[in-house]
Amino acid sequence: EPKFRNVKHLLKKALPRELYSLIERIGEVAQELGLNAYLVGGFVRDLVIGRKNFDIDIVVEGDAVTFSKEVAKRLGAKVHTFERFKTATLIFPEGLRIDLASARTELYRSPGALPEVDTAPLKKDLMRRDFTINTLAVKINPSEFGRLIDFFGGLRDIKERKIRVLHSLSFVEDPTRILRALRFATRYRFELGRHTERLLKMAVERKLFKTVEGQRIYHELKQILLEENPLRVFLKLDRYGVLAELFPGLRWDREKKDLFEKVRKSVIWHKLNFPKLSPDTDYHLVYLLALFWGEPENRVKEYLAALTLPGKEERELLNLLKRARELLPRLESADRNSTYLSLLESAPEELLIFLSAVSPPEVSEKVREVATRLRYIKPLVSGNDIKALGLKPGPVFSELLRRVKYAVADGELPPDSREEQLAYLKELVDAVKERNNP
Ligand code: CTP
Repeated sequence: EPKFRNVKHLLKKALPRELYSLIERIGEVAQELGLNAYLVGGFVRDLVIGRKNFDIDIVVEGDAVTFSKEVAKRLGAKVHTFERFKTATLIFPEGLRIDLASARTELYRSPGALPEVDTAPLKKDLMRRDFTINTLAVKINPSEFGRLIDFFGGLRDIKERKIRVLHSLSFVEDPTRILRALRFATRYRFELGRHTERLLKMAVERKLFKTVEGQRIYHELKQILLEENPLRVFLKLDRYGVLAELFPGLRWDREKKDLFEKVRKSVIWHKLNFPKLSPDTDYHLVYLLALFWGEPENRVKEYLAALTLPGKEERELLNLLKRARELLPRLESADRNSTYLSLLESAPEELLIFLSAVSPPEVSEKVREVATRLRYIKPLVSGNDIKALGLKPGPVFSELLRRVKYAVADGELPPDSREEQLAYLKELVDAVKERNNP
C-alpha cells in the first residue's frame, strides 16, 4: 500500500523560486486537461535525501507529447518532442529544462493474460525502475500538490540507507544496473540490501555484461567517472568482480589506485582554477587515461572496441594517451619555463590535468604553472611592431612573438615593460635581417 505524506515544504526549500513556480504551473495545466502529473525518479530521491538536483523529470498519466505542447504554448517555452518514445523536453527562456514522459502502461501484456485490474499507470511506470529509492513520486496537480507517493518502500530504504531492487530479475533484465547499484551505494554511502547483494553477485557470475551493448555499459561507466570519487566506486567494482569482467587483464594495483586519487585532486584543482573551462572539459576522459595508463596499446584498443565508444571519443582518448606517454619524459628533463610552455602550449585541458596527476611533484608543479600563468602571458609587442622594424609579414612573425613570450616566461624580460620587450624584439629582428642579407 502506498504511503502518503506531503513534501511541499521540501520542494519550496530545495528549488529556486522560478523552477518551483514552473512546476506549480505545469501541475495547473495538467489539472485543467484532466491529467495527473508527477515528479519522479532521481529528483525526488535527492529531494528526500537532501542532495542538490535540478534535473526535473515529470511523468503524466496520459500523452506527454500533447501535454508538453500545451504547456509550451501556455507558458511560452520551447518544446522538443520524441513521438516514438512519447517523451518531451520543455526549454524555458531562462534556460531551465524539464523532461516529461508518458506513464508506460503497455507492460508485457500477452494475449491470453488476465485483464489487469486498474493498476494506476504511474505505479506500472515506477515498477519498471531499478531500485526502490528511485521509485518515489510527488504529485503536482494543485489539489494534491506535494503529495509524496511511495509504492515500493523507497522512503524506508532511504531511511535504512539501503539499495534494493524491486524484483529478483532486475539485474538480469538490465545488467547495467550492477554499475548503477555500486554508483548509488558509493554516492550516498548506502549498503546493498542482503537479497540485492546476492542477486548482484549472481548476475556478475553469470557474466551478464556479455549480453549488453557496449555503449550502454560505457554510458554507465562514464557516469561513474563523473562522480566525485570514482576510486571508491572502482574499489567496489573490483570487490564484486565487475572490473575483471569489464576489463580482463587490467592492472589494478596500489599504483593505479594512487593515480586515481591524484587525478581526483587534479580535477578539483582544475575546477577551482578554471570555472569557465570546466563545462567543456571531459573529466571522465582523464580518469580513462588513468585507468589505461601503462596498459599495452592493443589491449586498450580491445577494451575500447568492447565499449563501442563513439569514434571521435575513441580517437581522442588514444591520442591523449600517446601524447601523455611522449610528453612525460620530455617534461621530466625540462629545466626552463619556456620548455614546459612550448611542450604544453597546445595541450587540451584533459591532458594538462592528467599530466599534473601522473608526473612527479616538481614537474606537476610546473604543469600547473603553465596552466594557470605561463600560457596566459601576452607580449606587449605585436606584429605591427615587427613591421615597423622593417620585416615583411610572414611565418617568422609568430615565431618572433613566441620568442618574446618565452623570454618573459623565463624571467628574462619584465612582463610589464613594453620598452624592454621592444628592445629585445629589435635584437631578434636585426638577427633575422642579418640572416637574410649577410
Ligand atoms: N533507470 C532504470 N534502469 C536503468 C537506468 C535508469 O530503472 N538502467 C531509471 C531509474 O529509476 C532512474 C530513472 O530511470 O531514476 C532515470 O535514470 P537516470 O537519469 O540515469 O538516473 P537518476 O536516477 O536521475 O540518477 P543521477 O542522479 O545519476 O542522474
